[in-house]
Amino acid sequence: MARFHPLTVTHLHKTIRDAVVVTLKPDDPALFAFTQGQYLTFRHTFDGTELRRSYSICAGRDDGRLQVGIKKVQGGAFSTWANTDLKIGDRLEAMPPMGRFHTPLDPQSDRHYLAFAGGSGITPILSILRTVLKREPNARFTLVYANRAVNTIMFREELEDLKNHHMDRINIIHVLEQDAQEIDLFTGRVDAEKCALLFRHWVNISSIDTAFICGPEPMMLAIAGTLRDHGLQEDQIKFELFSSAQPGRVPQTVSAMAEDSAPSLTQARVVLGGESRSFETGKDVSLLDAALRNQVEAPYACRAGVCSTCRCRIVEGDVQMIANHALEDGEVAQGYVLSCQSYPITDRVVFDYDAAGH
Ligand SMILES: Cc1cc2nc3c(=O)[nH]c(=O)nc-3n(C[C@H](O)[C@H](O)[C@H](O)COP(=O)(O)OP(=O)(O)OC[C@H]3O[C@@H](n4cnc5c(N)ncnc54)[C@H](O)[C@@H]3O)c2cc1C
Ligand code: FES
Repeated sequence: MARFHPLTVTHLHKTIRDAVVVTLKPDDPALFAFTQGQYLTFRHTFDGTELRRSYSICAGRDDGRLQVGIKKVQGGAFSTWANTDLKIGDRLEAMPPMGRFHTPLDPQSDRHYLAFAGGSGITPILSILRTVLKREPNARFTLVYANRAVNTIMFREELEDLKNHHMDRINIIHVLEQDAQEIDLFTGRVDAEKCALLFRHWVNISSIDTAFICGPEPMMLAIAGTLRDHGLQEDQIKFELFSSAQPGRVPQTVSAMAEDSAPSLTQARVVLGGESRSFETGKDVSLLDAALRNQVEAPYACRAGVCSTCRCRIVEGDVQMIANHALEDGEVAQGYVLSCQSYPITDRVVFDYDAAGH
């Protein structure tokens, strides 16, 4: 089943020295209709090795364009290539938009959104901001945007323009790690202490309906903790993680599991694209690897439990998911798992990618 589809690069724009905004024209636009906050997973072959990388869409739903922002990571293969070698007219391949980093829109609502972005974490937040401004005319948006210095702020001019057009609806607080600002509170790292001070002096947390957080993992955890301490419920806080410092796979857990549960083989059945395939697999093999080894073109990108591209639903049997940086508790309770991180623990398991919206 072909999951990747061709797109042409139609425009490239350097938002800062180390980040490029790529505008794309899909051959089949219907496949790339998106919801605010979603991401695209690209594949590209470097020296004979296929790499898959996800990039969030930064355009709003009503902007009439498909656009991603790619920040160069030191020594990073895909992001460096995108920033240095990519040209207008190049052909790329991507999976249709995925991700659940959004809340349903309601044109009647007068919600107050709070967003925290760190560095390139601004991309999905910008998509949400642009969409909300258009589709929820009474909504307000407060953005806390953390960067190292002024010259590393992605989309600085775009954000200024939005603010100038919607003075009474947008509040943007730039927090810079290195550059001193007029207000001391706006200098340094966004940690739990700074969050608490922001909530005391600058953001009325009791007026917030939903908070979006996208940035480095330690910053996200600190912000989420402070939001909870200030009364926000779990379902009011939405996360998007780009990478995790924690290892995605813990081999000891799997071998320990295999030792005490004989037999170590599982009868598996996978459903994808309306078809199902059955095979035998080891309990020390992830569901994703088992599917791929049996010629099922299961979707995946990071293989580290971060992106959720490999999400599927367990419809029979049980698995152990050894890392999860992407699914919310409610999704796990409904039987959704990350197949790259899930290992069978019962003698029969049925997992379904179609039931997870693929
Ligand atoms: C759902 C999702 C959405 C994403 N959206 C965006 C986006 O909109 N814009 C964007 O620029 N990136 C985004 N990313 C991150 C992106 O997918 C890549 O991880 C990143 O560009 C690095 O890939 P690379 O091939 O250049 O580096 P690699 O060759 O994979 O890694 C090189 C080195 O950098 C480290 N590294 C990997 N990723 C990061 C990171 N994000 N930050 C710091 N160090 C890292 C690695 O540990 C390694 O040491 C997103 C990731 C996910 C999962
Ligand atoms: S492939 Fe990214 S979470 Fe499994």
